[in-house]
Amino acid sequence: MKKLLEEIKGASLAAVENAADLGALESIRINYLGKKGSLTAVLKQMGSLSAEERPLIGQLANDIRSKIEEAITQKAAELSEKLLEMRIISEKLDVTIPGTPVTIGKKHPMSIVLDEAIDIFTGMGFAVAEGPEVEFADYVFTKLNTAEGHPAREWQDTFYFTEDSSVLLRTQTSPVQVHVMETQKPPIRIISPGRVYRKDEVDATHSPMFHQIEGLVVDKGITMGDLKGTLNTLVQRLYGPDTKTRFRPHHFPFTEPSCEVDVQCFECRGEGCRVCKGEGWIELLGAGMVHPKVLEGCGIDTEVYSGFAFGVGLERMTMRRFKISDMRLLYENDIRFLSQF
Ligand code: PHE
Repeated sequence: MKKLLEEIKGASLAAVENAADLGALESIRINYLGKKGSLTAVLKQMGSLSAEERPLIGQLANDIRSKIEEAITQKAAELSEKLLEMRIISEKLDVTIPGTPVTIGKKHPMSIVLDEAIDIFTGMGFAVAEGPEVEFADYVFTKLNTAEGHPAREWQDTFYFTEDSSVLLRTQTSPVQVHVMETQKPPIRIISPGRVYRKDEVDATHSPMFHQIEGLVVDKGITMGDLKGTLNTLVQRLYGPDTKTRFRPHHFPFTEPSCEVDVQCFECRGEGCRVCKGEGWIELLGAGMVHPKVLEGCGIDTEVYSGFAFGVGLERMTMRRFKISDMRLLYENDIRFLSQF
């Protein structure tokens, strides 16, 4: 039995020495010291020994057990240290490697100009109102004094949703005027930026979808002078303090009188050039005094109140502001173009 114990000692210590990892070490412990381990099996046979032999063999077996345990503990410590070393090597962080650059996006030029315009108008006491892009013909046309038979209501100009032409993609932001006047009492001072849609072919100055900013002021004693002052403030803040405007008579069904407003050409300062097609002026917006029929249709007393309205194209404003000659550039999402602003 002594010989057997010595054999177990030799074999187990050699196995511990060669263990490759902590898992192998654990199976060695189970194989020798576990409930069904070989050392345990030997100890179970102690009963067959003589009374003199028993304490000697018992002593030897205990010594071997603690030797093996000691060897396992030591090897385990050695292996964990090696494991840690390997992790330190494999997880090494090289702080000198250049980082991956994060490219920061930029505001779209139209967003830049819209934010500037909102800033200018809110500075003059205007609030920002919103209205739907899918709209009733009643709001786009009828309530804006644009009766059946008006060319703007033609199928070839407009995206209708229904056979009876009662629902469409709005062709202008002016219906927001009606929504606001139906729900708010004067004094009213709002702008309303948003998308509008017309059946236009795409070219350098047209797109079937574009943006307008509508403006509406209704109060006691509002005159054409207030309209001129407001719009002059807008263009001078946008394009510089010496920017000149020109108000030309025009016609819109929902304003009376109506006008179109031009700004002096940024390229030639009024001399006439290729950009303004020899005119010296560039058309910017439509405006006028709100037609009494429109005010009254919204329940506003025209004996007490008057108002002005305007609608300005955001694409046009942006193209003037950054001297962009082709509107398509604003929609093509070419980073090389957009990152210039
Ligand atoms: N809605 C008009 C257009 O799209 C512009 C406009 C707005 C004119 C408000 C007068 C008053 O051309």
